[in-house]
Amino acid sequence: MYEWIKALHIIAVIAWMAGMLYLPRLFVYHCEAEAGSKQSETFKVMERRLLKAIINPAIVVTWLAGLYLAWAGHWFSAGWLNAKLLLVLVLSGVHGFFSRWVKDFGADRNQRTRRFYRIINEVPTILMIGIVILVVVKPF
Ligand code: HEM
Repeated sequence: MYEWIKALHIIAVIAWMAGMLYLPRLFVYHCEAEAGSKQSETFKVMERRLLKAIINPAIVVTWLAGLYLAWAGHWFSAGWLNAKLLLVLVLSGVHGFFSRWVKDFGADRNQRTRRFYRIINEVPTILMIGIVILVVVKPF
C-alpha cells in the first residue's frame, strides 16, 4: 500500500510542479497583451483552466498522499520531514498568491510587471530542488 501511495504522491507532485512552473510563464506573456485584446482573453482562459483543472486538484492529492506517507512511515519525528514540510508550506503559500493573481488578470487589474513574474518564476524551482534533496537524501 505504502509504495502505491508513494507512486500517487509523485504523480500528483509532477502535475502540481508542472503547473507551478508554467503558470508564472503565462503571467509573463500575459503582461505584454493589452487588456481586452483577444490574446489577453485567451491567456485568461489558459490560466484559469491550468489552475482549476491541474494545479488545485494536484495540491490536494499531493498533501493527502504525503501526509499518509508521513503517518504510515512514522516520519513525523524525522528532521528532514519537518524541513520539507516548511518548504512545502512556503510552496503552498506561493500557490495561494498565484491563484490571487489569476483572479487579478481575470479582472484586468494586474499591476505587476513582467520582470516581477520572471523573478517569481524561479521560486517554485528553488523550493522544489530543496524539497527533493530533503526527501531523497534525508540529510538529517
Ligand atoms: C504536501 C506535503 C508533503 C508531505 C507531507 C510529503 C511527505 C512525503 C513522505 C513521508 C514521503 C515518503 C518518504 C520515503 O518513503 O522515504 C514522500 C516521498 C516523496 N515526496 Fe513528498 N511530501 C509532500 C510534498 C512533496 C512535494 C511538494 C514534493 C516535490 C516538489 C515531494 C516529493 C517527493 C518525492 C520525490 C518522494 C519520493 C522519495 C523517495 O521515494 O525516495 N513531496 N513525501
